Amino acid sequence: MRHVVIIGSKGQLGTDLHPALSAFRVTGLTHGELDVCDLERARAVLGELRPDVVINTSAYHKVDVCEDEPAASFAVNATGAYNLARLAAGLEFTLLHFSSDYVFDGRGRVPYREDDLANPISVYGTSKLAGENLVRAFCPRHFVIRSTGLYGVAGASGKGGNFVETMVRLGKAGPVRVVDDQVMTPTATADLARAVAALLAAEGRPGVPYGLYHITSTGQCSWFAFAKSIFELCAMDVDLSPITTAQSGAKARRPAFSVLGHGKWIEAGFAELRPWRDALADYLRAKGHARA
Ligand SMILES: NC(=O)c1ccc[n+]([C@@H]2O[C@H](COP(=O)([O-])OP(=O)(O)OC[C@H]3O[C@@H](n4cnc5c(N)ncnc54)[C@H](OP(=O)(O)O)[C@@H]3O)[C@@H](O)[C@H]2O)c1
Repeated sequence: MRHVVIIGSKGQLGTDLHPALSAFRVTGLTHGELDVCDLERARAVLGELRPDVVINTSAYHKVDVCEDEPAASFAVNATGAYNLARLAAGLEFTLLHFSSDYVFDGRGRVPYREDDLANPISVYGTSKLAGENLVRAFCPRHFVIRSTGLYGVAGASGKGGNFVETMVRLGKAGPVRVVDDQVMTPTATADLARAVAALLAAEGRPGVPYGLYHITSTGQCSWFAFAKSIFELCAMDVDLSPITTAQSGAKARRPAFSVLGHGKWIEAGFAELRPWRDALADYLRAKGHARA
C-alpha cells in the first residue's frame, strides 16, 4: 500500500483528505508536528516516514492580512513549498501541492485554462504563484492543484472558519451584505479530496501527466449568489443585499473573475466534479443547517 503524508492534516481540506484516501496508508501531520518553514525538521520527519506521496495543504491565507505581512506569506506559501520540493527530489516522493485562483488578475471572462498567464494582484496570490513555480522548478514528480472558494466541515483553520458558516452566523444576526462583482466556483473540500484520491490512484498511468491541474466544482457564481443559495437551502429568511468590491473596503485586491477551466483534468480522463450547488446542499445537510 502506498504511503501518503498529509501536511496540515487538521485544516479543512486536510480533514477531508484523510477518509478520501482509504486506498492508501495515510499519516496526517499537524502544523505542530511539521512546519514547512523548518527545512531541517521537515527533512528529519519525512526522512523517517519515507512516504511515497506528500500532500501539502499548508497555507498562510488570510488574504487581507497577507498585504501587511508579505514575509510571513512568502515564508509559508513560497519558501515552505520550496522546502518540500527540494525534499521531494532528494527523498524521492511525489509532491502534491495546492494553489489558488488568486494567481490570476481576474480580467478574463471565460474560465482560465491551466496555461493562461498568471498575473496575481495581491501579496497572497503572488506568494502562491511563487510556491507553484518553485514546486514546478525543483520537484520532478509533482501535481500542483489550483482550486477556488473552498469550504469543508472542519472550517479553514487559517481563516477562522469558512464562508458558509460565516453566512449562517451573520444571517441569524441581522442584514447581510455580500460582494456581487467577484465570480468564482465554490468548491467543497470533500469533493476536492475525492478528486485528489482519484488523481493519486492514477499516478503513473499513461495519459495522466504530472504538472498543473485546475480542480473545482462545476458552474460559477458571485459571492452574493453563493450566499443567496446558502440562505435558500437553509430556508433562512435573511435581509441580503449585494455590494461592490469597492464598497466592501477589503484591503487586498481580488480577481473579479476567477473561474477555472478543467481542460487538463478532462484530458487526463477524469470526470467533472458535480455542480457547486449540489455539493453545497450536501454540506449544509451534513452540518445540520438544512433538512434532508
Ligand atoms: N480556503 C480557500 O478558499 C482556498 C481556495 C483556493 C485554494 N486554497 C488552498 O488550499 C489549501 C488548503 O486550504 P484550507 O482551506 O484547507 O486551509 P486551512 O484549513 O487553513 O488548512 C491549512 C493547514 O495548514 C496548516 N499550516 C499552516 N501553516 C503551516 C506551516 N507553516 N507548516 C505546516 N502546516 C501549516 C494549518 O495549521 P494551523 O491552523 O494549526 O496553522 C492548517 O491545518 C491551501 O494551500 C490554500 O492556499 C484555499
